[in-house]
Parts: sequence; C-alpha cells; structure tokens
Amino acid sequence: MTQDELKAIVGRAALDYVTPGEIVGVGTGSTVNKFIEALATLKDQIIGAVSSSEASTARLKAVGIPVFDCNEVEEIAVYIDGADEIDPAGYMIKGGGAALTREKIVAAQSKRFICIADQSKLVHTLGAFPLPVEVIPMASHRIMRQFFALGGKPVLRLKDGKPLVTDNGQHILDVQGLRISDPLGFEAMVSLWPGVVEVGVFAHHKASVCLLGTEQGVKTLKFD
Ligand code: 5RP
Repeated sequence: MTQDELKAIVGRAALDYVTPGEIVGVGTGSTVNKFIEALATLKDQIIGAVSSSEASTARLKAVGIPVFDCNEVEEIAVYIDGADEIDPAGYMIKGGGAALTREKIVAAQSKRFICIADQSKLVHTLGAFPLPVEVIPMASHRIMRQFFALGGKPVLRLKDGKPLVTDNGQHILDVQGLRISDPLGFEAMVSLWPGVVEVGVFAHHKASVCLLGTEQGVKTLKFD
C-alpha cells in the first residue's frame, strides 16, 4: 500500500469513533483530509465539527459539514487528528501543517484524542521530526537561543521566501536535533518561555487511541 492508501484506511477507520448526533473535533493535514472525505458520508448524522485550522474549515464546509467555533460548544466527545510522530505512550509531535496551537486548543476541549497516522509516524523517542513551535515574532531570536542552549537547531519556517504566518498571525520555528525523552517535562518547560504561543509536543493532551495504517491493515493502539 502507498502512504496515501495507508492514510485513507485510517481516515475511514476513524468513522467508528464518531457518534451520531455529536459535534466532532477535526484536526489538520493530509491524513485528516482523508478523514474529512469519509466524514462527508455521515454528514447528515452529525451536528457538525469544530475545526483546528482555516484549511480544514474550508474542506469541511466544501463537503457540507457545518463548522462551529470552539466557544459555541462545551466538551467535544472526540478529536480526530494526525501526527508527525507518535511514541509507544501516545505522546506526539504535531505542527507540520503549522496548526499546532488550534490543534492543542481543540484537543484540550475534547474527551478523547484519536490519532490517525500511517506506520512511518510511530517512533521510539520523539525528536527526529523537527519540532514545530509557534512563537510571537518579537521573541523568536531569544527563543532560538534557548533552543540552541538545549542542543537544538531552530530554523524559522518560510513560505515563498518569507516567514510563514500561521492562522493566528504568528511565526513557526522548526527545531532539529532534539531527543525528547521526557515529553511531559519538555512540554511544560517550553510552554513557560515568554513568547512561545504553543509547542508541538502533545504530552499533556496525548492520544487516547492511535489508528495506525500498516501493510496488514489498521492497527489500534490504546494508551489509556
Ligand atoms: C498539522 C499537524 C498534522 O497532524 C501533522 O503534520 C501530520 O500531517 P499529515 O497527516 O499530513 O502527515 O500536526 O499541524
């Protein structure tokens, strides 16, 4: 199976976690795009979605799924999103699509996080994927120095030769060379640095379940 096919099978498998009559939390990325395609087949059975990015909002609306603001709903039963890396405890690196802040906000509002990922995303220790960190631009150089001090190599993410601007109007640093052996401690530490909007380690809001696309089909990993 190609990586695209693996993403499609987990996108479809995630429908099992969607309960009719509910609002679904929807993440961002190419795997989630497969989920949105699948969710369109259930659109008459759900109330709608809360989305983690302008890109997913546009896709949801294009298939006729109503999108609600986070502030219009209380607890969301399930949040379905991809990951750049996931470890055997369900801790993740996210933000390859620059949507990490809104992703963490919707994840925090959701009872369960269902991660959908192809097998390449499962790692022993987080950090081979450059860690995305959303930052307020005036703090970016100091935050870069703080990552250098930890042995990381931060790079400002560019788009068309200019700093990428997130849906929240901020910038992204991608930090290479980290080995995150204590995801809970690392997330807590970086979150305290002034100017960090959000760090792409999802440890305090880790996955409850990972639907992993493998050559043998969808493997379900449970973390709680
Ligand atoms: C976006 C994300 C994505 O979930 C992550 O980058 C995985 O994306 P894809 O499904 O395209 O591999 O965190 O900010």
